[in-house]
Amino acid sequence: MPDGDNVQSGKGAGIGTPQKSDGYFLKGASNLDWGMKDRLSRIFNPKSGRTVMLAFDHGYIMGPTTGLERMDLSIVPLIEYADCIMCTRGTLRQVVPPTFNKPVSLRFSAGTTILTSLNDECIMDIQEASRLNASMLAVMVAIGDAEHEAVTIRNLTKTVDIGTQYGIPTLGVNAVGKELKRDARYLALAARVVAENGANVVKTYYCDDDFEQVTNACPVPIVIAGGKKLPEKEALEMAYKAVSQGARGVDMGRNIFQSDSPVGMMLAVKEIVHNNEKPDKALQLYNDYKNGKH
Ligand code: R5P
Repeated sequence: MPDGDNVQSGKGAGIGTPQKSDGYFLKGASNLDWGMKDRLSRIFNPKSGRTVMLAFDHGYIMGPTTGLERMDLSIVPLIEYADCIMCTRGTLRQVVPPTFNKPVSLRFSAGTTILTSLNDECIMDIQEASRLNASMLAVMVAIGDAEHEAVTIRNLTKTVDIGTQYGIPTLGVNAVGKELKRDARYLALAARVVAENGANVVKTYYCDDDFEQVTNACPVPIVIAGGKKLPEKEALEMAYKAVSQGARGVDMGRNIFQSDSPVGMMLAVKEIVHNNEKPDKALQLYNDYKNGKH
């Protein structure tokens, strides 16, 4: 038993030194609860304020996407390089070893596939997300899709409600239909709507013109999806331009796992995102890794 004599001595107890009251490093998150902030700090590196998320949830709408046929072979070796992984509950249990201790952005909405009409979705049970130790709940939101906008906004709202109860942040994933133009005007509107409805992080696409308007008008961090496979140089330039214009990182899939050297690409993207490396230097890093110079 500790004795109680000196419990309130006050000596050396910091009298005269005001208790530090730090702000929080992510925009829009200062007023969140401790659990939310802890989870966001596992996803976003508190030093750089940014993240490299590895996305491999494509199969839930596209089936065995190129590069994802055998995720035990193609994806598992990449996980150690990612700041966060983004996948479905099926993949988590079937393929991802629970020993990496990486934060999981869990695909929380599920729905129709490319064979019918995308985005007719529902959301999962929060207890399932909790069992899987999710650090973030990813929900698809189809702004401007006349058929599915309403249902996906309802899904977002329910996810934010339940995620807030459990202290798990929500990632609003902007689904952009083929008929919609991915310009700054649309992307800014969609990102803002998702944030206003309570998402803590928004995932959207980069656009060549005025992307800064998208990040500037979004009160929470934006991460960009990579989209379809580009030559490595172009993908690295896109990542560089996105973070230079305010994105807080990437949530990238095909441009990593469909690359000739997925690990090289992970390393190159990380250099850009966390260390502001220029695309040509990052490309050199990629090529060096690919050619066995590391
Ligand atoms: C798309 O809805 C999926 O959620 C992917 O996670 C997302 O598109 C990112 O992957 P990619 O970089 O291949 O576009």
